[in-house]
Amino acid sequence: MRDVFNFSAGPAMLPEEVLLQAQAEMLNWNGTGMSIMELGHRGPEFQAVAEQAEADLREVMSIPKHYHVLFLAGGASTQFAMVPINLLGEKMTADYVDTGVWSKKAIDEARRYGAVNVVAHTEHHNHLAYIPPQERWTLNKNAAYVHYTPNETIDGIEFHWVPKTGHVPLVADMTSAILSRPIDVNDYGIIYAGAQKNIGQAGITVVIIREDLIRDPLPLTPTLYAYKTHAEHHSFYNTPPTYSWYIAGLVLAWLKREGGVTAIHERNKRKSEKIYSLLDGHKDFYLTRIDRECRSIMNVMFYIHDEKLTPHFLEEATNIGLTNLRGHRVSGGVRASIYNAMPDEGVDKLVAFMADFAKRNG
Ligand SMILES: Cc1ncc(COP(=O)(O)O)c(C=O)c1O
Repeated sequence: MRDVFNFSAGPAMLPEEVLLQAQAEMLNWNGTGMSIMELGHRGPEFQAVAEQAEADLREVMSIPKHYHVLFLAGGASTQFAMVPINLLGEKMTADYVDTGVWSKKAIDEARRYGAVNVVAHTEHHNHLAYIPPQERWTLNKNAAYVHYTPNETIDGIEFHWVPKTGHVPLVADMTSAILSRPIDVNDYGIIYAGAQKNIGQAGITVVIIREDLIRDPLPLTPTLYAYKTHAEHHSFYNTPPTYSWYIAGLVLAWLKREGGVTAIHERNKRKSEKIYSLLDGHKDFYLTRIDRECRSIMNVMFYIHDEKLTPHFLEEATNIGLTNLRGHRVSGGVRASIYNAMPDEGVDKLVAFMADFAKRNG
């Protein structure tokens, strides 16, 4: 086992088994005498890798046949534009839920193409942020879609329920939530996620889209921004990010060996509960700003009451191999991103350090 536990929010820690396999196969993939990254994307070797990754994703997420699975370049941020460009249609209006930094970025991008109705914002109660229940949202029955961010990577706030939007398609930016828990894909019109947290390495974005939502995009849309292009060409209209796709395949195979999303969810809950219970037990030293009902199981955000101690906390943590715990520049504080690949050992070491740091400085 490596002696550094990387709590980065993304690109994030990958399973050691995956890195070792990639290393072993680097110069000679599957007896070809070539690296997978040197193989043509239309050749039978890479096609088999691509198909297997898709099959494994379909299996672990139980994706129904009437959904396309696309592997695209451009990052999740490109989806902030592709969703409105392809879905607004004649309605030209969409509903968005604003729960944090990434929701706001999606909203700002969508406003370039049509009318955006923000149906709910994060609210606060006793200084704790929470997501208002759906009864208080102002949904528009004529919206082209409803967009939300099930887990806000920077804010550390997560939905533990799925909005019900009836016939209006629900679109989810699952970049930091995908594969962390079982979901019912049928609840969604589109799910998209950048790979650099739970799917693999940066450079590829997974889009799961119900077939009836493959429509004509807005006029003048570049070919590569049309879901239609990618669906018709099975993500091979142009050269896809082949190495990122290969790594995604290794991660998905690893996830299956770990017992799939149900097993990993149990582990994720256990890992996050360890940190949250340490925080709850040291309320006079550490501070959380998220309501218990909306705490993220992937990105645990917290602060030290005496802010002067934060740089010391981060430095001491780094010195013992607990790295990248600094909160995002907009939120400050400390953020422990504990995606699927973070082992219990990393969380246990963090929790022990947090208890010791509080004892020494409290
Ligand atoms: C929830 C969420 N959405 C979107 C993004 C943007 O992803 P990308 O950098 O791949 O465009 C991120 C990146 O961390 C994210 O966490």
